Amino acid sequence: MRETSLSTEAAAYIQARAAGFQPATGIILGTGLGALAREVEVEVEISYADIPYFPVSTVESHAGRLLLGYLNGAKVAVLQGRFHYYEGYSMAEVVMPVRVLKLLGIQQLFISNAAGGLNPDFELADLMLLDDHINLQPTNPLVGPNDPALGPRFPDMFAAYDPALLARAETAARRLGQAATTRRGVYAAVPGPMLETPAEYRYLRAIGADAVGMSTVPEVIAARHLGLPVLAVSVITDLCFAPHLKPVALADILAAAARAEPRLSALMKTVLAG
Ligand code: HPA
Repeated sequence: MRETSLSTEAAAYIQARAAGFQPATGIILGTGLGALAREVEVEVEISYADIPYFPVSTVESHAGRLLLGYLNGAKVAVLQGRFHYYEGYSMAEVVMPVRVLKLLGIQQLFISNAAGGLNPDFELADLMLLDDHINLQPTNPLVGPNDPALGPRFPDMFAAYDPALLARAETAARRLGQAATTRRGVYAAVPGPMLETPAEYRYLRAIGADAVGMSTVPEVIAARHLGLPVLAVSVITDLCFAPHLKPVALADILAAAARAEPRLSALMKTVLAG
């Protein structure tokens, strides 16, 4: 299958530069949440532009670098910058990094994103551990012929977010004194790039979502297809319910992401350390 062979070529290039380094955990960092990458003891740094067939981030708040190295003693592959459907990529391109990381040998995937808060109990810069999702994007990465070498035709999504990783994240949040700002909930993925209308926010809340964003779900679907356990965390960067709902600027989203970033990094590092 063509997509599989492109991923294989990309992984072979990375492996040739990685000099035997094999990551155990893949980490995809979301909008304004790249700071964790600064804490990686980097063995190899590769620009997306150098990786054959790898898409290149078009969003300024995403760096476009793959780091291989150690974080809290764990072997990680950190994707600093992701690809969104709204940038015009196909779903195959959006999830190519996940498939490449799997070929590099990762056994679990951690994901962060910036999201709008729909649950009225949430506060700005809270973290939300995803425990489920609703896919409202118009397509997904598994549409088309299935490559049985990757995974099954009809992957199960009963526990898309790994219950053991979720439990470890909740324990970590308590240990770090972050229990009050660490929530749990359902993430709705919309295509974007526009934010939602007030009526759309009300609709998303009514159908059972606690947060809304424009990413993550394609990667989670691809990861589950590959059998990878996933931990995903949203940073609540804007509150999308009365009386807080107001026009949002990207600067506000980035400011809230920056405020939450140290807590997100500490949480991911603690879960990594097991
Ligand atoms: N809607 C969609 N995506 C988002 C939002 C939002 O309110 N905030 C951050 N990403």
